[in-house]
Amino acid sequence: MTEVPPFPQNRTCPYEPPTGYRHFRNKRSATEARLYDGRSAWVVSDHSLARTLLADGRLSVDRANDAFPIHDARFLDLPRRSVALVGVDDPEHNAQRRMLIKSFSLKRATALRPMIQNMVDRLLDDMIALGDRADLVTTFALPVPSRVICSLLGVPYRDHEFFEEQSRRLLRGPLSADVENARLGLEGYLEELISKKRTQAEGDSLLDELISERLDTGELSVGDLVDLVFILLVAGHETTANMISLAVFTLLTHPLQLAELRENPDLLPAAVEELLRFLSIADGMLRVATQDVEIADTVIRKDDGVVFLTSLVNRDETLYPNPDVLDWHRSTRHHIAFGYGIHQCLGQNLARAEMEIALGALIRRLPGLRLAIPPAEVPFKPGDTLQGLLELPVAW
Ligand code: HEM
Repeated sequence: MTEVPPFPQNRTCPYEPPTGYRHFRNKRSATEARLYDGRSAWVVSDHSLARTLLADGRLSVDRANDAFPIHDARFLDLPRRSVALVGVDDPEHNAQRRMLIKSFSLKRATALRPMIQNMVDRLLDDMIALGDRADLVTTFALPVPSRVICSLLGVPYRDHEFFEEQSRRLLRGPLSADVENARLGLEGYLEELISKKRTQAEGDSLLDELISERLDTGELSVGDLVDLVFILLVAGHETTANMISLAVFTLLTHPLQLAELRENPDLLPAAVEELLRFLSIADGMLRVATQDVEIADTVIRKDDGVVFLTSLVNRDETLYPNPDVLDWHRSTRHHIAFGYGIHQCLGQNLARAEMEIALGALIRRLPGLRLAIPPAEVPFKPGDTLQGLLELPVAW
């Protein structure tokens, strides 16, 4: 009898899927995996099957469902509570999303570009003024999205150390108590911020708008609003920070592709899409079946857990020939780095703008940018479903 492989597994190279995932690769149907608590879940790595299932309303994101596949003991308490948007099924999900969609449109992200460019330039000015080496995570990759989401939401950036730390503990623990305390800490912080804003003259941030248009009208309670802002604040800085640092690391370890990008900056938008596909930093989207779902030669039964391995779906060779090669000229159409279906990333337009501007400015202003330590020594975040670097020591 073959042993059932575990999910999740650690990456051994920050931009490659975990080696143990080869068992799941190029499987046209769903394959069984073992979760940490001994339960099993279906793993999907086929591109077409992933898109079909991610669009199937019978697969739920409701973490309050006891059958939901929890991938680590530290989330045992957290998933029992509802997480706005990404943890809510339709029709409630749709109502939440409609309140925010305008603020995250392509038009809005385009309008924010000069502000983002300005922030990026100032951060680089400061970094360059301090010498010829730095940790790119703390000086650049994290402050860029953190400042942008603060400005958009109306959260004071001076509190960034607090919410970045809560967000880190929320996602990484290591203990279940850390996750729970981080959640409580952030919720308390946001509640206080909302009550302060209610007594002040109205600003023009998204939070001010939600207060006057949704909270004061009674459509949302304070708790509902806290839940919404919570997910925007956490998802808005953590993911993009991981993506920027990992993208820079990948460029610095792929000199030919970097040289091509330096020669032809018009390739930048295509490079960002290819990096999203190649890195697949959100590697493991989780769902639970609320009814039996028939697929290929298998039936996913009601209450079965389903895991979408983004890193394998985005390297499905039927859609992406030579999928393990980083290539600015390939078609990256239909990658699922931002998910797919009703929960597809709300912040994707903003994230793309941030990545293009951040990577473009780094390449333009630091022609001598290089790793300050050997690539194998660059510490990356311990394996899980969200990939990123802990530090990125660079010199220029
Ligand atoms: C490169 C950076 C980013 C990546 C790779 C990323 C990835 C993802 C993925 C894969 C999902 C779907 C999760 C699922 O279906 O289970 C998602 C959802 C979401 N993302 Fe992002 N994200 C990024 C940046 C952002 C930013 C900047 C924001 C800004 C607020 C954001 C806000 C959200 C929200 C609110 C959801 C839930 C949407 C819903 O359920 O309707 N993300 N993201």
